[in-house]
Order: sequence, then C-alpha cells, then structure tokens
Amino acid sequence: MLRSSALRRLTATLLVLGSLAASTLGQEGGRTVWLSELDATSVIQGWGEPQADRSVEGKPMILGGRTFERGLGSHAPGVIRLELDGRVQGFHALVGVDDETEGRGSVVFRAFGDGSLLHDSGVLRGGDAPKSIDLDLDGLRMLVLVMTDARDGRDHDHADWAEARFTAGGADPTIVPAPREEPVLLTPPPPARPRINGPRILGVRPGSPFLYRIPATGERPMSFAARGLPAGLVLDPATGILTGAIEDRAHRTHRVELSAESRHGGDRRELRIAVGETLALTPPMGWNSWYIHYNRITEADMRAAADVMIDSGMADFGYQYVNIDDCWMKERGDEPYRDRDGALLCNSRFPDIRGMVDHIHARGLKAGLYTSPGPWTCAGYVGAHQHEEIDARQFAQWGFDFLKYDWCSFGGVAEGEGRDRLQRPYRLMSALLRQQDRDIVLNLCQYGMGEVWEWGGDVGGHCWRTTGDLGLERGDLLPGFFRIGLSNARHWEHARPGEWNDPDYILIGWVGSAHEMGEGLETTLTPTEQYAYMSMWCLMAAPLIFSGDMAKLDAFTLNVLCNHEVIEVDQDPLGQQAVIVRQTDEVLVLAKDMEDGSKAVGLFNLGELERNMALSWEEIGLQGPQRVRDLWRQEDVGRYEGSFETPVGRHGAAMLRLWPSAE
Ligand code: GAL
Repeated sequence: MLRSSALRRLTATLLVLGSLAASTLGQEGGRTVWLSELDATSVIQGWGEPQADRSVEGKPMILGGRTFERGLGSHAPGVIRLELDGRVQGFHALVGVDDETEGRGSVVFRAFGDGSLLHDSGVLRGGDAPKSIDLDLDGLRMLVLVMTDARDGRDHDHADWAEARFTAGGADPTIVPAPREEPVLLTPPPPARPRINGPRILGVRPGSPFLYRIPATGERPMSFAARGLPAGLVLDPATGILTGAIEDRAHRTHRVELSAESRHGGDRRELRIAVGETLALTPPMGWNSWYIHYNRITEADMRAAADVMIDSGMADFGYQYVNIDDCWMKERGDEPYRDRDGALLCNSRFPDIRGMVDHIHARGLKAGLYTSPGPWTCAGYVGAHQHEEIDARQFAQWGFDFLKYDWCSFGGVAEGEGRDRLQRPYRLMSALLRQQDRDIVLNLCQYGMGEVWEWGGDVGGHCWRTTGDLGLERGDLLPGFFRIGLSNARHWEHARPGEWNDPDYILIGWVGSAHEMGEGLETTLTPTEQYAYMSMWCLMAAPLIFSGDMAKLDAFTLNVLCNHEVIEVDQDPLGQQAVIVRQTDEVLVLAKDMEDGSKAVGLFNLGELERNMALSWEEIGLQGPQRVRDLWRQEDVGRYEGSFETPVGRHGAAMLRLWPSAE
C-alpha cells in the first residue's frame, strides 16, 4: 500500500514537473469530466449546498484574486466520495478558501485513493493562492476527497475545488454516499452461569434508605447472598435486591461479599458500601425520557421503562435510574399549578406519581425527575422558582433519588453577578436536597456556562452538563456526539468520584428528532459509530443514560449498551476521566488509569476511511510487556512490547485494556 502510494505521489509530482497540465492529460486519450457536472446529492459538507461552477454562496469562484469558470463550491468539513471504474486516469484541481470570506476561514484538502493518502494540502487560509492537486488515479476504484476545518471550527470554511476535472478512459466517476454498514454484534452474549456486574463501590449518607439491585447476568433463577452486610440491610435472595438503612451512622466503608448461584455455577464479588457524604461514587447509569417522549411522556411510559430495564437485561449490567425529564408538571396556562399549600401539581398524564415511583422501586431501581430553577422549564411547564424548599421536600416524599436541575427561564429572574449568579440556584437546591432524609443525586443542566466543571462539585452537583443538548448538535462529516464528546473530553481534570462531567445522553436505537420534539426514528449512526460513542462515554467516565425508546430496544442497541467490560471502564472506582493523549483532525487517543493498575485506552478514527492505528507505550506512560485486551470482543489479543497496532473503521474506535505482563 505504502509503496504504491509513494509511487503515485512521485508520478503526480513528475506530472507537475513536466508541466503536464490536466488539459494535456486529456490528450492522452481520456475524456475530460468536470467534477461540477456530476450529481452532487451525496456530497457531505458543513454548510450550504454544493454549487456547480460557483462558490458555496453562489458567487463567481475566486481564489487568491483569480476567477475560475469551472469548479465545485463546497464548505468544510465535508467529503466527496467517488466511485471509479479503474479507468479514470487522473484528477486535477486548484483548491483553496474562496475570496468571498475576505481572508477568513481555513481548510485542509486531502485526497485518498483506495484507502491511501494521495494528497494533503496543508492548511489553506482565506486569501491564499490556490494549491494544485494532480493525481494519478489509474487502476483505482475509490477516490475520497476530504475537507477538514483545520481544527479551528467551520466558520468561513468556503472550500473551492476550482477547475476540478477527471480524465476518464471509461465511465464517468460517480459521487456516492458513505458505505452502508451491516451491524456486527461485537459484545459476546453473557454466559449462562451467574456473573455479578455493576459498580464496585456505592456511596450512601448515614441513615439514608438503601436500595440496590445486584446487577447479575446469567440464566435465572439465581439465588443471591451477601457476607459482611452491615446491620440494617436486608437482601432478598431471590431478586438480589438490598434494602433497609445502615444502622451504624459512622463514616466508614463496609466491604461486602456478594454471591450469586444458579444451576450453572456461581460468582462472587466484593461491593464496597461507603457511608459518608459523597453520592454517585461512580457515574449514574440509567434511562431518561427526553429524547423519545418529550412532552408526550406519561406515567405509563415510565412504569413500562422500568419493566423493560429489568426484562431486557439492562439492569443486569448496572443500569438503574429511571428518570422523567421535563413535562410531568402543569403546563403554562393549565392552572392551578400548585395546591393551596404551594405543593406542585402533576399534569393529567401523571395521575399517581407516588405509585409510579413505588413501581420503579419495587424492581430495585431508582427514580429521577427534572425541574428548572426558573418560573418555567424549557418546555414551558411550571418550574421551582420561589418554591424550591417545598419542591425539594415533595420530591423526597414522592421517593425520588435523582434530580436534573435545568437553568431554563432562570436567566430572567437570576440575581447577582458572574459566577455567583450562575451558582446560586444550585447551591440552594443542593442544600435543600441534603436536608431530606433520602439520597438524591443532583445533575446540573446549564450547558457548561461559567466553566461549570470548575465549580459544579463545590455547589453540590454530582454531575453537570458541559455542553448544549447533544440531540440538537449538527452532525456532518462527524456525527454530533464526536463534537460534544471532544469538547467534554477537555475537562478531564475536573472529574472525580461524586463529581462527573456530563456530555448528555446516549442517543442510539430509536430516538426523537431533536429539533421538533418529534416521534422516534431509527438512529442514523452507523454501527461502528455507535460503538465509538459508547467507548468515548465510558472512557470519559460519563453518566451512562440512554435516552432512546425502551419499547423498541433491539439486539444491536443492547449490544452497544450492555458490555460489562466496557462499562467497567466507566464505573471504575478510581473515578478518572480519560486524558487526551493525542488528537489530530483524524485521530483521537484517550487513556485512563484503572484502579487495578491497568490502563483503558480508546483509539478513535475520526477519518473517512479505515486506518491502522498505533499506540506506543511511551505516549501513555507504560513500560515493558503488556497484555492487551479488546474490550468490545472481550478477547485478549496478545502480549505486546512497546507498541500495539490495530485497524479501526471509519468513525470507529478500538477499546483496549492493558495490564503489565511479566512472562
Ligand atoms: C433542556 C435540556 C434537555 C431537556 C430539555 C427539557 O434545557 O438540556 O436535556 O431536559 O431542557 O425541556
């Protein structure tokens, strides 16, 4: 591959040196086919529509003061995939950022032929003279033209392919969409014998009610036991649900040995129960109603979601929170909003919210809800403004275990300045929640304002959204989760047990079209992208909250959500968020230390083509031979010294774990 691509580069250079302009290539027997003549429907670009013989704004195409009659006006980030018949001889273009940006914008143009890099323009900026691309395509079947934003955002990246033309000996090249991928199930099915999964440590405040369903895969019936259970806790041996309240109120960590037995065998595992003031010692895992039910959510949907969490097996991997988002309270105009004592009223879709919480708890799961510190929530329902105390008490009385606290409409009533203004509502609510005799995890949802990662923990938050809504994030060359994920990844220093960066939900399976709060549609992410999404969230120790349709969970979605070795990276008790080891516009390497001394590593391919990705021990601070495990396939791939290399698909990830290996 490398040799032939080097050869091709050499040929390309010779062609230029011999000043064989593309027009003369045409005289070698081929026809000239202009890129702008081809059907551009499958061009992917960061803004606007592709324009034939014009700039992306539909103006004359001008690069470095030169006007061009022909060419394709596009916008980075983007990709043009071309199928060739092996008889396309060459491609010629002059590329650059159109003068219409008045000197702004920057783009890198790359060309790949049958998977090998043929050309890299380097960064071209607005106003630069155009750069020439001359490619020998003889025998090739696929040409991929990529425009990246040069890693400084897409603004003003008006990418021109001036004079772009092929010399074709046979059929015209065709612009094609990204290849369809057949879903391959990477996670092996869990064995029939019991296996205890889920977090290895739980935090509980002294005296608080305790509820935990031991997550365990394997064929049921199964019987559970626990050794060293602190007094006050009771285990139901048939369901594996622990309830009660720990009598000893001292701050200390109880080490409990859990076991699960069935006719297929047994498993044992230590669970640490840390009595103290810190909750969410590992990132919360569960489901949230927003991206599928929006303002249609009903109590029945919530009860059904809890049932599916058990029946689908998700709970056996550690998913436990069943969270209503917005729209359970009264909508603006639907008065009265509160009863005579000021207690919040639910809307008619929630006739028995207390019964709903009991239903969730009876399954050993936990219940969450949402409100806003403003007078109104984002969707226009009643918020907590000036009723914070009564609402916090009410949430606890209903039995909720998790509160997502938004910011919507609070901007209009917020007092104070700067950070103090941003922090006040959360300080108030967390103090009120701490006064309740329940443990309630607090999720801040203010989109990262005021660098919330620097102070979210100080104001009593257990996790905080670091960005806007993922569902509203535009995807183009890369799907939106990469952009949100890359932004969240930068805040790794601020994550620790009880304090997590939250890049929003796992939006796979059937999810709503975010802009219109629409009905669920099947995800447009490729299977490879979905595995990358989950890999990234786990490496970032993000809350793992699925927000797709629980009623339409398919085998593939469950395969992505339920891999205990991948989840273990998220739930590791050390509580590290992965460090960014390496990042270019084509690759991302994340790595984190695990409590047992191993390293978890993600190799992400942000590019348009499969590539070999190498990891050197040096870049992740390792020495000596390592046992390398592929976490998705749950297979040891071997013992390696110094480095490891593996192919990674387009927009995909390899998720690895490395242990020092003596022999
Ligand atoms: C947004 C929030 C979403 C969802 C929505 C409800 O502010 O980021 O996750 O909760 O409000 O209206």
